Amino acid sequence: MDVIATVAGFREARARYPRLGVVPTMGFLHEGHLSLVRQARQECGAAAATIFVNPTQFGPREDFSTYPRNMERDLALLRDLGTDLVFAPDVAEMYPPGYAIGVEVGGVTDVLEGAVRPGHFLGVATVVCKLFNITQPTRAYFGQKDAQQTVVIRKMVRDLDMPLEVVVCATVREADGLAMSSRNTYLAPAERQAATILYRALRAAESRHAAGERDAEALRAVLRTTLAGEPAANPDYVSVADRETLRELETVPPQGALLSLAVRLGKTRLIDNIIVGG
Ligand code: PAJ
Repeated sequence: MDVIATVAGFREARARYPRLGVVPTMGFLHEGHLSLVRQARQECGAAAATIFVNPTQFGPREDFSTYPRNMERDLALLRDLGTDLVFAPDVAEMYPPGYAIGVEVGGVTDVLEGAVRPGHFLGVATVVCKLFNITQPTRAYFGQKDAQQTVVIRKMVRDLDMPLEVVVCATVREADGLAMSSRNTYLAPAERQAATILYRALRAAESRHAAGERDAEALRAVLRTTLAGEPAANPDYVSVADRETLRELETVPPQGALLSLAVRLGKTRLIDNIIVGG
């Protein structure tokens, strides 16, 4: 496994692989990340992971400086999987002095996470665009866990005619349903216990949909009332939205809907989602 910190070095190594599956990450890897790397390697014959905690996607009051990092452990995990290449640049390599470009994806970035975290998706789209230019993926792999991010990246790839395929992989969960996240390590034991409410709320709304409920507000009410059963959970939003435009729905159509929520538990903010129908 080659671990490379420079753009020039990565380009040179990249040339050895006719097809490459690429998994962008911010490190502190867990089974969610590793499932993406496995699928990339299986489908493309070779896999690269990128590890870069991207400062431009964190707001001024967010957790950039405290975001968990463990490069040695990450590299050991990736090595065990047979990962071929790792791109792990520092901030100056990605944003040298005078850096002055941003990739702004319109529309789908105004709602949900974009509404609560202004500038977040500008940072995400910009760094992912750069990572694509550097790593030249045949296919790039993203987790359904960050549903809006997958919509934003797909739109960027389509609108800018980027020559690669975006693959979205299922959310990997803990045994009690909590979606794996590097941020779960922030949770105190009581908060970790309370965090199961996110998936329980999504499942409650999913079964109401399965029972025939198509009124989106009724499904949002199920999400809200289930979350209200956990006093430690402070919801930022609950949403029943169109899977492509991410606009809130009145009625769930036959092609289904994205149910998503963001919840604060103490200082930690968690997101999760599920697709119903379709
Ligand atoms: P990060 O949060 O490290 O996630 C890297 C990738 O792993 C994303 O595609 C994310 O959706 C996926 N992922 C995270 N938890 C998952 C889970 N439980 N199951 C399946 N996939 C999961 O997302 C980012 O980094 C950054 O925004 C990035 C795209 C790297 C740009 O900086």
